[in-house]
Amino acid sequence: MGIWVDASGRQFQLDAGGSSYRIEALAEGYLAHWYWGPRLRARPGLDRRTLLRPRAFSPNVIAGREDFSLDVVPQEYPTWGRGDYRLPAYQARQINGSAVTDLHFARYRLVKGKPHLETGLPQLMVGSDQDAETLIITLVDTVTQLEVELFYTAFTDLSAVIRSARLLNRGGDPISLERALSVSVDFPSADWQWVRLMGAWGRERHLQRTPLGAGLQAISSRRGTSSHQANPFLALVEPAATETQGSVYAMNLIYSGNFFAGAEVDQFSTTRMAMGINPFQFQWQLLPGESFTTPEAVLVFSDRGLGQMSATFHRLYRGHLGQTNWKTRERPIVLNNWEATYFAFDEAKLLELARTAADLGVEMLVLDDGWFGDRHDDRRALGDWTVNRDKLPHGLSGLAEGVHELGLGFGLWVEPEMVSVESALYRQHPDWCLAVPDRTRSEGRHQLVLDLSRDEVGDWIIDWMSEILATGLVDYIKWDMNRHMTEVGSAGLPADRQGETSHRYMLGLYRVLETLTTKFPHVLFEGCSGGGGRFDPGMLYYMPQTWASDDSDAIERLKIQYGTSLVYPAAAMTAHVSAVPNHQVGRRTPMGTRGWVAMSASFGYELDVTRLSLAEQDQVRRQIGEYKRFRPLVQFGDLYRLLDPHGENAAAWMFVGPDRAEALVIWVNRLAEAAGPAHWLLLRGLDCRRDYRVARWSDDGQWRVLNVAGGDALMGLGLSRSYRSDFEVAVWHLEARPADEGGSLQ
Ligand code: DGJ
Repeated sequence: MGIWVDASGRQFQLDAGGSSYRIEALAEGYLAHWYWGPRLRARPGLDRRTLLRPRAFSPNVIAGREDFSLDVVPQEYPTWGRGDYRLPAYQARQINGSAVTDLHFARYRLVKGKPHLETGLPQLMVGSDQDAETLIITLVDTVTQLEVELFYTAFTDLSAVIRSARLLNRGGDPISLERALSVSVDFPSADWQWVRLMGAWGRERHLQRTPLGAGLQAISSRRGTSSHQANPFLALVEPAATETQGSVYAMNLIYSGNFFAGAEVDQFSTTRMAMGINPFQFQWQLLPGESFTTPEAVLVFSDRGLGQMSATFHRLYRGHLGQTNWKTRERPIVLNNWEATYFAFDEAKLLELARTAADLGVEMLVLDDGWFGDRHDDRRALGDWTVNRDKLPHGLSGLAEGVHELGLGFGLWVEPEMVSVESALYRQHPDWCLAVPDRTRSEGRHQLVLDLSRDEVGDWIIDWMSEILATGLVDYIKWDMNRHMTEVGSAGLPADRQGETSHRYMLGLYRVLETLTTKFPHVLFEGCSGGGGRFDPGMLYYMPQTWASDDSDAIERLKIQYGTSLVYPAAAMTAHVSAVPNHQVGRRTPMGTRGWVAMSASFGYELDVTRLSLAEQDQVRRQIGEYKRFRPLVQFGDLYRLLDPHGENAAAWMFVGPDRAEALVIWVNRLAEAAGPAHWLLLRGLDCRRDYRVARWSDDGQWRVLNVAGGDALMGLGLSRSYRSDFEVAVWHLEARPADEGGSLQ
């Protein structure tokens, strides 16, 4: 277990769960990557030296060594300019104009557990030294005295390795970093498919999987946030890999800004996979003695397909991401007033919503956009964070007290990173937003982005938010961010450091979030960026849940939530039942379907509950009862994806509880079929040796016990149904029984 080092101190094997990761400091000084995959016995002499054959047009970095070229060495942190023409992991420009460097192995050390790095970046944490071990390898460029520390944390029980790099200028001259990725891994073959999560506003994280070809294939964000368009996740999978079988090599970046994730297939059919801060427009000056630390990249290996990969990510993030106790606390059922009222609300309306919500069993009222300044629409007032007394005559405290008296928690929407041009804040501090000299400022949703690279701007956010949170009346914050960045420049930085703005923005944002979440640990933060535009582990570190999409239609949500679940646990997604016809796509879906789709995440409502008919109110009351019953299973159980909506007329998934004693199966079809087949759904994650009492939910809210069936039969034969009407949901609850009740499948 843990990290093995051979007697010479030059061969390293990280054993993480069922996987191994193998590194060697070559006699030539370079750090080579030999292996990542299923667990190996740790022993000396395990390598792929046959890759290091002499090749035409592959230059030799060591005089007289025609047999040695960096062009074929699988490097752990590939350098640029010495013969390796593949994607470098870093580039360091020196004052003489050269960007050529050459890293040689210097030393290593081992640390029990995982050291907390004072980087100002979100990072995974381990509770006990038994959970993980960390290897730190130091590489040195002797000409510039640039030192690179590579961090590798291997988890004991999970097939996960965390990588990051620290670049330290030990020389006497400044160095300008033009690239500093978090991870690079070389594979000896090229027969891969690449899996990524792509989308747009309202269509986030749809799964894409295509064969990898020759050359560089990459996804990235240049938008200033991790973005709706591409998630900082990439997996290489065997072509035959499925949900349950085959090798998967996945990476996820703990970062919320511009990122790069790519795979390059080279001339000799090897593949380099890399991830980190996007080098595009990135620059960082390292003065003598200064260091730069990259965000952490999470590497997960699975030899049991994408399902096992997701299970590892989910366990990692549920157990090790974030410092608040919300990791393990049940998340409240929310009523958010956005789709109920948009900007048209007042105190009386909100209290009416809260009264009905309390009666229905909701636990938290979240007041969305429009409570401050002159905010009657989205054209104004961002930045003017004082309560609008026309709408809320008794202030936030009057409203919050009223809501609390009804037994509900009180949540508040904020968008602290933005300023409207039409606002007192902008008139007072026009230099506080991202801008470049002599150019107009492009607006998005009529707003500009505050320059969080500047401490004074971050301090101002901390101050006004602390004032609100210190009242103790706010239990929940929805933190929104509704545009991407343009004219990325900072009045706080000199001309030759403007390339640092984007990353300094992220560090500034993380500082604000760190301060607020540490000062107010009881507050539950929900991240949001026009829906799921910043759904990444960086944000989840501070805010344990994220509004998955502004598209609240249950059928659209199937793909969004399916894709999201590849990496992120169900509790991290928020999903709400909204009105029909749906506000984004105009679709009418049954209340049951809307309910079960939203209940497969951190749950809530987003509609005017006072307008529901009595029958609908009854349905909602029952839904809330169901969610309270199944909440631990959904939020902390194991998720199994059963049918992929990207390719099928249906989606299905299930949650399995501790000891496999309980499970909840949800199956939604899109269109009805006139003479369709009986569809069969093979379950997963059950105990073969146990019998389960199978109950099926019906529209009237009743559970009908169907039979008792063996876990083996439920996984081997499965459950069956036909698609009788559009957008219909079928739900089963399974409870393990003593093995004596017999029964047959229906
Ligand atoms: C975008 C969010 O995703 C919505 O839920 C809502 O909060 C609006 N912003 C408010 O402006």
